[in-house]
Formats: sequence, structure tokens, C-alpha cells
Amino acid sequence: MSVKVIDEIRIPQPNGSCLCYTIQRLAPQHLSAVVDLQQQARHHAAENDAIFMERPTDILAACLADEGVAVGAFAADQLVAFRLLYYPGKFNQGEYAGLPPEEWNKVVHLEIGVVHPLHRGHALQRRLTAQVLAEAGDLRCKRYLCSVVSPQNYPSIKDKLVVGMPVVRLLELPGGHWRYIFCRDRMKPAQFDEAAAIYVSVNDRERQLELLSQGYQGFRVEKLSHDAVLWYGVPQRQDKVQ
Ligand SMILES: CC(C)(COP(=O)(O)OP(=O)(O)OC[C@H]1O[C@@H](n2cnc3c(N)ncnc32)[C@H](O)[C@@H]1OP(=O)(O)O)[C@@H](O)C(=O)NCCC(=O)NCCS
Repeated sequence: MSVKVIDEIRIPQPNGSCLCYTIQRLAPQHLSAVVDLQQQARHHAAENDAIFMERPTDILAACLADEGVAVGAFAADQLVAFRLLYYPGKFNQGEYAGLPPEEWNKVVHLEIGVVHPLHRGHALQRRLTAQVLAEAGDLRCKRYLCSVVSPQNYPSIKDKLVVGMPVVRLLELPGGHWRYIFCRDRMKPAQFDEAAAIYVSVNDRERQLELLSQGYQGFRVEKLSHDAVLWYGVPQRQDKVQ
């Protein structure tokens, strides 16, 4: 199958050289490279279930085929990063996001993104998120874009907030891991008043649960030296299709 090249990225280095990435649409033929890269990220020293959970191969395969959209970054023909979007079946993250069952068939997942440990810090995840959403176009007219991220995964929290997906819940998922649930309602995107924001450490679970139960949502994240803070506000809704 021919591969669609979407973009080329050149990142100048302090020594005068340049890091070059080719952004491509991924297809079923890339499954083994995607599985390998996820495995490498898993084995990287600091990562464990507390930060990210591997996706099973059948979900990765579905994202590369008709049930999703996948983009990847290649350096010298090697896959070094990917980002997946998934059109799930009936049971999906809409439940985690607190949507009523009749809305679950309107949910699309911004699924796992992985960047090879040697290629991190170049905003590849954020660039790939923008590209996968651009490639997905109208998201098959699905209304809700959902994602699940660990409170300890600052780059991935930022990645979701930048594309207008607020934190709507904080849940303990099966297996005992706490996760933020992000959900963007594309028909009624939320806007937040920064001047009225309440800042809370990502580690202060009780306070965040309290705010979320009062209708607040997380809309911005800021990295501090030993911590990160989420900005919470009450969403103002605007009716429009995005
Ligand atoms: C999460 C991940 C995809 C981030 O990839 P990345 O391309 O290096 O991230 P970015 O370069 O876009 O970084 C975004 C922000 O996070 C920061 N950041 C990146 N890695 C970080 C780290 N390990 N610790 C703290 N901050 C980090 C960057 O400085 C940047 O901050 P800023 O925009 O405020 O300056 C990558 O670390 C990874 O593959 N992790 C394992 C898999 C995973 O956790 N996937 C997400 C779960 S679905």
C-alpha cells in the first residue's frame, strides 16, 4: 500500500545540524513498527502502569485500519513516534466522561501517542495530535472527543488541553490507577474565564474531586519545578459545530 506523506519537520540543533522527521499517514502495514515502539516506550526506565498503559495489539490494528486514523513520524525511515485516533464500539470512554448511554455512539477516542525516548522534547506528540485531527477531518460527525491520561503525565495533559479538550473527571479505573478523563463536546465547546481560575496541584486529588463535583473543569496546565498545576474553571458553553 502506498504511504501518504503529510509533512516534513526540520528542527535545527545547537551544533548546527538538523533533526529531520517525515510525518506520514500510517496503515495496517505499520502494525509491527507501532507495536515495537510501544514496547520500547514501555521498557523505558521511568514508565510503568502509573503513567501509561499499553494498548492491546487488536486496538492498535483497528486504529491503523478502518476503525481509526493513525499518523507517525519517521527519522531515516524508522518510526519514532505515532498518534492514534479510534472510533470505538458501543462501550467506550463516554461512560468515563459521564455521558448518558444514548450518547456513547457519538464518541471518538484520541488514543495513545508514543514518542521514542531519544526523540522526546521536540513537541512531536503535539504536532502529531494536530496532524491526526486534521487527517480525521469531521471525525465522522462524532460529537465527543475523549481521552484518558495519568495526572503524572504532564506532556499528555498539555497535549489534550491545547486542542480544547478539558478535564471533566478524575477517576480510579479498574487496576487502581487514577486518570483524568478529557472530553471535548464539539457541538458546545467550553470556554473558561482565566481571571476566575482556581489552581490546584495535579497531586491534590481531594481538592480536584471536590471542584469537579461542583461543575468545574480543568482547562490549562502549568509545569512547576517539582509539580504541575491545573487551572480549573466553570465552563461557559457556546453552541457551534467545530
Ligand atoms: C508523552 C510523550 C508522548 C510526550 O512526547 P514529547 O513529544 O516528548 O512531548 P513534547 O515534546 O510535546 O512535550 C510537551 C511538554 O511536556 C514537557 N515534557 C516532555 N517530556 C517530559 C517529561 N518526561 N517530564 C516533564 N515534562 C516533560 C515538555 O517540556 C513540554 O512542555 P512545555 O510545552 O510546557 O514546554 C512521550 O513522553 C511518551 O512517549 N511517553 C510514553 C507513552 C505515553 O505516556 N503516552 C501518552 C499516554 S496515552
